[in-house]
Amino acid sequence: MGKKVTVVGAGFYGSTTAQRLAEYDVFDTVVITDIVEGKPAGIALDLNQSRPVEGFETKVVGVTTGPNGEGYEAIEGSDVVVITAGLPRKPGMSRMDLLETNAKIVRQVAENVAKYAPNAVVLVVSNPLDEMTALAQLATQFPKNRVLGQAGMLDTARFTNFVAEALSVPVKSVKTLTLGSHGDTMVPVPSKSTVNGKPLRDVMPAEQIEELVVKTRNGGAEVVALLKTGSAYYAPSAAAARMAKAVAEDSGDVMPVCAWVDGQYGISGVYLGVEAEIGAEGVKRVVETDLDADELAALKEAAEAVRAKQSDISNM
Ligand code: NAI
Ligand code: 2OP
Repeated sequence: MGKKVTVVGAGFYGSTTAQRLAEYDVFDTVVITDIVEGKPAGIALDLNQSRPVEGFETKVVGVTTGPNGEGYEAIEGSDVVVITAGLPRKPGMSRMDLLETNAKIVRQVAENVAKYAPNAVVLVVSNPLDEMTALAQLATQFPKNRVLGQAGMLDTARFTNFVAEALSVPVKSVKTLTLGSHGDTMVPVPSKSTVNGKPLRDVMPAEQIEELVVKTRNGGAEVVALLKTGSAYYAPSAAAARMAKAVAEDSGDVMPVCAWVDGQYGISGVYLGVEAEIGAEGVKRVVETDLDADELAALKEAAEAVRAKQSDISNM
């Protein structure tokens, strides 16, 4: 049977994700939903009219959902559901400032996903990301491997782009890695970063690497400060769409994602940014990589910071 993906939330993140997913032309159907009357249907109509130009056959369906789950029948049979519903940051706000408002939204969405698409893999993007991923798992009661969050792909892409720009080399010659939380305890990993196969530390001075690490940690805030009315969506949607594609194609690609960690790195019982093999069942396997002592310490610190917040969300 053909593949079906649902994107919940037809704002900037959701609409660009739906566009990327449709243009891949690997799904039969992309469903996009929102609570705003008409908006998802308008986006679907518009995207479908781009099919002859872009040359894809995927059908986009837009549905407005109601407060009691009205409209959610449209997501039935989805292989993947991407949850983008929720408020974005405004300048000066941290992702954590969104916690209570977005927790209500994500819980309501996740409960409907559990009811109407009980076999789906759930990809969470709403912020604060690590906490909303944990909440979506609690609200759906899905196995933990079937609920994961998008952050590491984006943060890694930002780090890679900054390194490539600083060295004036093609982005494809640079590999970086970012683990930890999608917040203050983000852990960019210079020891696993390379340029044309050479260690980053051999081609860039330590102070410059540290500058780019800090710039990566502030990558989202830098965009928010410029946009003023919302947060980034082109790079974020690229990351989420790639994850959904990996699930649909059961690719086994290794990606940095927010996954349930149970023993790896000596960390247990928390959703955290780590590398994982992604396939039809969501996370096939968390991949543990060698880290320097300071990077491992930072990852453990991130785990404890996220754990403290994740314990609050069970009551939200
Ligand atoms: P946006 O404001 O453009 O769109 C949010 C949409 O969610 C709105 O259309 C709104 O009507 C909808 N919505 C609200 N409640 C809903 C519900 N119960 N059901 C369905 N839809 C609902 O915001 P944007 O830029 O699309 O960002 C969405 C979320 O993604 C934010 O929380 C933002 O912080 C987060 N984000 C996460 C990133 C990550 O790396 N994980 C990166 C960028 C943004
Ligand atoms: C970002 O990193 C705000 O989480 C969002 O762009």
